[in-house]
Amino acid sequence: MSGREKIPYGRQWIDKDDIDSVIQSLKGDMITGGPFVELFEKELASRFDADYAVVFNSGTSALHAAYHAAWLDAGHTFITSAMTFAATVNAGLYLGASPRFADIEPDTGNINPDNIEALIDETTTLIVPVHYAGQPADMERIAGIASDKGLKVIEDASHAPGAVYKDTKTGSCAYSDMTVFSFHPVKHFTTGEGGAVLTNDTDTAERLCRFRNHGITRTDFEKESHGGWYMEMQELGFNYRMCDIQAALGVSQLKKLDMFIEKRRDISIKYDEAFMENQLIETPPYRPRTMHSYHLYPVRVSVDRKEFYERLHAEGILAQVHYVPVYQHPFYRENGFEDFSLPETEEFYKKVISLPMFPLMSEKETDRVIDVVNKTLEELG
Ligand SMILES: Cc1ncc(COP(=O)(O)O)c(C=O)c1O
Repeated sequence: MSGREKIPYGRQWIDKDDIDSVIQSLKGDMITGGPFVELFEKELASRFDADYAVVFNSGTSALHAAYHAAWLDAGHTFITSAMTFAATVNAGLYLGASPRFADIEPDTGNINPDNIEALIDETTTLIVPVHYAGQPADMERIAGIASDKGLKVIEDASHAPGAVYKDTKTGSCAYSDMTVFSFHPVKHFTTGEGGAVLTNDTDTAERLCRFRNHGITRTDFEKESHGGWYMEMQELGFNYRMCDIQAALGVSQLKKLDMFIEKRRDISIKYDEAFMENQLIETPPYRPRTMHSYHLYPVRVSVDRKEFYERLHAEGILAQVHYVPVYQHPFYRENGFEDFSLPETEEFYKKVISLPMFPLMSEKETDRVIDVVNKTLEELG
């Protein structure tokens, strides 16, 4: 690739403020269970208009805890889409529940509410919409179905901090019981590894806190305390705690979220304009009264996608495919989904590829991606 810099599909932005914040936490008395975790939770709840934010050491552990707090259990089923990272679904399996995959909307990649009701029966307790790429799912309809059937809703918003749906912030849980974020480095803002669950329900927040700390509580007792040392393990939990070093990074990163989204939006506008006239590529759709948060810029191409991917990589443009439908992974094929298929999900998977999208991407890099994509489409078209 003639000595040019490679352009990844996503990467973090770390500056001096982030490094200073982490150093400050390292100099403190408590590098876990200390003040930065509390501060990060407070600032997350305030930024996203939720009553509570409970942080975890990954988005995956946050999902596990959220499903547990929604009382998902062995023998239950939950409904989600397969156009997602495996963690959305794996977290339900950890609790002994079984997924039911609803087919997606052909353009957004989000769960199609039209396909949900047919999957509901007496075992179903939960719906998990994933805001694919940062485009909010049709939450009003999903919340309507859940309310009619007495189901809980958890938003997997790993792609969508900063998105807006009908004047409500994703994370505010205006249409759900809980919202989950991931703070992996390719996401909007990072803690290295990390995640959070946001909720407006006090009991749920308490259940989340217990679950991340082995099911132990120091305050919530029926009987009198035995002494200052006393604590109780009231249920089986995990060590899913985020440490203060991570939370210090989160506090500093969160301050930059609006700027990050602005930069992502600028890149998406350039891409939209550059590919508008090209019949061989479909750009992400935008829904009325929603604001996309542009975690990914997934396009659908009408050329050989594998060849397209390989030619982009040969030019140093490290586009990525999101996602292999979850039920196609060998583990899921061997565990109940052997012959399973969903037409829209498979059609989407056949064509989709995410172009580089991250706030540090320069104009020159964006222009190079546009040139290489247009040239490659012309060659393969
Ligand atoms: C949609 C979705 N859900 C869940 C996760 C899991 O998050 P984490 O990597 O922080 O565990 C990811 C991360 O890639 C994701 O994209």
